[in-house]
Amino acid sequence: AIIMDGNGRWATEKGRPRSAGHAAGTEALRDIIRASDDWGIKCLTVYAFSTENFNRNPDEVSFLMKLIGESLRELADDQRVHDNRVRLRAIGERDMIPEDMLEAIEYAERKTAGYGDYNFNMAIAYGGRQEIVNAVKDISSRVKSGDLNVDDIDEDTISECLYTFELPDPDLVLRTSGEFRVSNFLLWQLAYSELYFTDVYW
Ligand code: FPP
Repeated sequence: AIIMDGNGRWATEKGRPRSAGHAAGTEALRDIIRASDDWGIKCLTVYAFSTENFNRNPDEVSFLMKLIGESLRELADDQRVHDNRVRLRAIGERDMIPEDMLEAIEYAERKTAGYGDYNFNMAIAYGGRQEIVNAVKDISSRVKSGDLNVDDIDEDTISECLYTFELPDPDLVLRTSGEFRVSNFLLWQLAYSELYFTDVYW
């Protein structure tokens, strides 16, 4: 799993707008998706847009939404995705996602729904704490309705209520750009992951 950080700083240092950094970030992601195949990585999750990212300048938010939506549609139409049976998914708060982007997500998920040799997940409007809050609500309502006994709640019960319920926990979580934080990314899932931080901008 990857926290792709530093796009804005990369662009600013080159005297270019932040949007140019995000566009270049999309190219870097394409390289990594291709490399994942060579390296035998079957499941890749990237932090494309956090719940906190909604607080950015509205122009940057809409640029990012459009860029991610277009990239998703391109991926869903890419023959290599179908040849390799890559399942595309978005994980995050669907209620917060604008209509255009939601359509792109549903398109990509529908076109790859039957696959699973590889999994490529994009965390969009994602927050790890919110994901856990949702799981707690889900479990509480099952207890309240009598479908679940409190004594039967274990780690698997919680894992099964997360957006990532069908996916393995990440072996490795990378963050670029020199920040040593996990920033609300896959909080539950990274309990045993190796963490790797690098100064290089995404
Ligand atoms: C962090 O850099 C990066 C983002 C908020 C966006 C990452 C998104 C992409 C690379 C596009 C991904 C496309 C798909 C299909 C998932 P920053 O803006 O926080 O950089 P800064 O910390 O230097 O300001």
